[in-house]
Amino acid sequence: MRAFTSCVWLLSAIGAAASSCDPTAGVESLVKRRLPQHVDSFEFVIEPAQGSGLTNDSYAVSSTKDGKIRIEGTTTSALLSGLHKYLSSEANVDIWWFVGSQLDQAPKRLPQLKSPLKGTSVVPYRYHWNTVTTSYTSAFWSWEDWETQLDWMALRAINLALAWIGVEKIFIEVFTEIGLNADEINSFISGPAFLAWNHFGNIQGSWGGSMPQSWVDSQSDLQLKILDRMEELGITPILPAFPGFVPRNISRVFPDISLSTSPLWSNFPTELSGDTYINPFDPRFAQLQKLFISKQQELYGNVTNFWTLDQFNENQPLSGDLGYLQNVSHNTWTALKAADPDAVWVMQAWLFSSDSAFWSNDRIESFLGGIPVNSDMLLLDLFAESAPQWLRTNSFYGKPWIWCELHDYGGNMGLYGQIENVTINSMDAVRNSSSLVGFGLTMEGQEGNEIMYDLLLDQAWSPKPIDTETYFHDWVSARYGTKNVKSLYTGWELLRPTVFNNTNLTITAVPKSILELVPSISGLLGRTGHHPTTIHLQPSGHG
Ligand SMILES: *[C@@H]1O[C@H](CO)[C@@H](O)[C@H](O)[C@H]1NC(C)=O
Ligand SMILES: *[C@@H]1O[C@H](CO)[C@@H](O)[C@H](O)[C@H]1NC(C)=O
Ligand SMILES: *[C@@H]1O[C@H](CO)[C@@H](O)[C@H](O)[C@H]1NC(C)=O
Ligand SMILES: *[C@@H]1O[C@H](CO)[C@@H](O)[C@H](O)[C@H]1NC(C)=O
Ligand SMILES: *[C@@H]1O[C@H](CO)[C@@H](O)[C@H](O)[C@H]1NC(C)=O
Ligand SMILES: *[C@@H]1O[C@H](CO)[C@@H](O)[C@H](O)[C@H]1NC(C)=O
Ligand SMILES: *[C@@H]1O[C@H](CO)[C@@H](O)[C@H](O)[C@H]1NC(C)=O
Ligand SMILES: *[C@@H]1O[C@H](CO)[C@@H](O)[C@H](O)[C@H]1NC(C)=O
Repeated sequence: MRAFTSCVWLLSAIGAAASSCDPTAGVESLVKRRLPQHVDSFEFVIEPAQGSGLTNDSYAVSSTKDGKIRIEGTTTSALLSGLHKYLSSEANVDIWWFVGSQLDQAPKRLPQLKSPLKGTSVVPYRYHWNTVTTSYTSAFWSWEDWETQLDWMALRAINLALAWIGVEKIFIEVFTEIGLNADEINSFISGPAFLAWNHFGNIQGSWGGSMPQSWVDSQSDLQLKILDRMEELGITPILPAFPGFVPRNISRVFPDISLSTSPLWSNFPTELSGDTYINPFDPRFAQLQKLFISKQQELYGNVTNFWTLDQFNENQPLSGDLGYLQNVSHNTWTALKAADPDAVWVMQAWLFSSDSAFWSNDRIESFLGGIPVNSDMLLLDLFAESAPQWLRTNSFYGKPWIWCELHDYGGNMGLYGQIENVTINSMDAVRNSSSLVGFGLTMEGQEGNEIMYDLLLDQAWSPKPIDTETYFHDWVSARYGTKNVKSLYTGWELLRPTVFNNTNLTITAVPKSILELVPSISGLLGRTGHHPTTIHLQPSGHG
């Protein structure tokens, strides 16, 4: 195990190592990184919430007699939320993934507060990322890109996030250890730009060449930095569990292993799709799960109990038999718990909406019913703003779940939002579902429209649906400052009830430019659905 930058390793009398992180150190480092002129302007104090189990976070920001800004909060994430509230609403500065940080433009004399700013979250978890975002958006990110991203996430109080980077090293080590050779492994691992779909078992192998070892190593190094920074910033990482997909030649090393084959995905050729997977009731599934998880624990330390595991994402199971589905999930859970007794299985519930013809309610109930302890699972209701699954499944039959905004398919670049569903429907879920534990963002590509992501993450701290008119106004102030921005307030107020208020059910995500489509002399215009080219507002109408 290694020591974390902001954590001290304590050796107890019996020699067992335990980490003791200073919970405010990461916040102080962020201030030093982004507002170096203000390292002495803030005071951070943690006051843990009362009670056990999951709790909502809260913060209070006030001015001290000696002119400092004092932030009290229940957790590191709560402190960061308070800091963000103060910086964006009082100092009118923020950090943006598309323009970088403007926090260093905070005034020399920080604004003092007459009365404290207070906030309480309405959900314990604020979640970020989608397994495919790693390929659509961050495949070639540097550490500097991740630093901006992680500070952006942390200040918006995200406290739970997927951390897929560098997992190829783990896959390769596990496969090598059981006796597969480099050719066999290379025929399975996809190239750097396509890993997300390899992780989902949709594709295997690659076009023209195998994964370079230098890339595998550099990504693993990057992951170590990402996990350190997440820990400092109060973000619990969700690491990959072994989903079961394996090189086809696994039967060479385990001749009696029980295998199945996934369907071909998206018309890919057999050579590059139709992934082989170990049936979870075969003991080798548990063996590989244990290897997969313990290798990560050795490399990263005991940083999480959350494991992401998707077996049937756009991959229909072999059978819809209720007993089969329950058997698969039950054995998957058993293997996961054997590898980490505290494991929580995180699953993207996209399949229930994308393949709702297969995933009838009784099949979902059987699959989820295979996990006998509800709190051992966490479902992401991936496209809750348009195709919520919690309503038809009676809140996933009692399993904890997170209300997620998907918003952007692929890496589409248009302007788009559903301000009403994001604010009203998410709060309906808080009121109506006792197993709702978080709000999150699951955009496929993290592209423009940052205001729509901010809106849901701020909704996580607002007891009533946010008034979007005030919200857009304040967002403009944080984005552009308050001087000479009258026309910007007007411009954004034109966008709010039009571009950002889609209610047309045939167009449910960010539009795509026809320039992004395969060239054609017809069929480019008027597309609807997840990759629409239709414009959902009447430019000459309202506004
Ligand atoms: C968090 O706050 C919401 C809204 O007030 C409430 O419904 C929910 O029960 C709280 N959750 C916890 C874990 O206290
Ligand atoms: C798979 O194993 C067979 C022998 O069982 C071997 O001929 C073949 O080359 C292997 N495939 C790969 C990709 O290495
Ligand atoms: C890892 O950490 C979790 C939570 O912090 C704790 O419950 C668990 O016992 C730890 N596991 C090990 C092996 O130290
Ligand atoms: C799952 O199915 C396998 C193969 O049919 C069987 O051996 C096993 O007992 C089943 N397990 C459960 C928990 O039903
Ligand atoms: C808004 O949410 C409602 C209720 O879930 C849903 O019926 C509707 O399709 C959503 N609107 C859009 C534009 O997706
Ligand atoms: C949720 O509950 C409120 C009452 O608190 C009700 O008005 C609303 O229709 C419910 N919404 C859903 C989606 O169940
Ligand atoms: C959004 O559009 C709907 C349907 O046209 C309308 O009823 C609603 O008032 C609009 N909301 C906002 C905030 O503009
Ligand atoms: C929704 O968009 C489709 C496709 O452009 C259009 O045909 C339809 O009239 C729109 N519906 C409404 C209610 O505006």
